[in-house]
Amino acid sequence: MPEDERLDFQIRNVKIEDVTEVYRLLVANRPYVGLNSRYTYFLLAKDFSDTCVVAQHNGKIIAFSSGYIQPSRPDTFFNWETVVHRDYRGHSLQKRMLLHQIKITNATYFEGTVNPSNKISKRNFCELAELLNTKCEKRTLFNEEDFENDGHEAEVLYRIGPISKKQIVL
Ligand SMILES: CC(C)(COP(=O)(O)OP(=O)(O)OC[C@H]1O[C@@H](n2cnc3c(N)ncnc32)[C@H](O)[C@@H]1OP(=O)(O)O)[C@@H](O)C(=O)NCCC(=O)NCCS
Repeated sequence: MPEDERLDFQIRNVKIEDVTEVYRLLVANRPYVGLNSRYTYFLLAKDFSDTCVVAQHNGKIIAFSSGYIQPSRPDTFFNWETVVHRDYRGHSLQKRMLLHQIKITNATYFEGTVNPSNKISKRNFCELAELLNTKCEKRTLFNEEDFENDGHEAEVLYRIGPISKKQIVL
């Protein structure tokens, strides 16, 4: 796709029928995004479709973003995994899906974790806080030792908020 072409896409809640395509997208676009069992994604689509989204272009799923509202903290949307198909990167789809998820969940705080080497996501989380005109706090949630030094990087938690609804421009 030419770099300057504006991408026409729709963001919508994930459906069970999407899981095969979503799983293929995750397999093809590692690393960073940790691949879980197919069953995990079926459960996300079955029980958490209110908070998980896909982006579609010409009928094809080009991005996926999962997350949930923590039962004990209903004001916080936690973003679990986000992936954008390699051929469709550079259109701010990560930030656009996250904004969409914040909006549909009515959350006033956003949380997500990033591996220290993931420069693009770190920058996007900071830009998300700027777009929402709010604060961004960072702390290590899990370190390498928590993963028994099996090669899994630390997970650094970004907490963004408070978020005012009027700052969310989709
Ligand atoms: C992180 C990720 C979701 C961001 O995708 P995105 O929303 O399309 O990214 P952006 O539009 O913000 O673009 C980010 C930068 O990547 C660049 N980029 C464009 N195409 C690219 C490609 N094919 N590969 C890598 N980077 C690319 C963009 O030009 C942009 O750089 P610039 O701002 O200096 O021009 C995506 O890179 C991805 O799926 N990575 C693998 C999984 C991952 O890291 N998930 C997040 C875990 S927290």
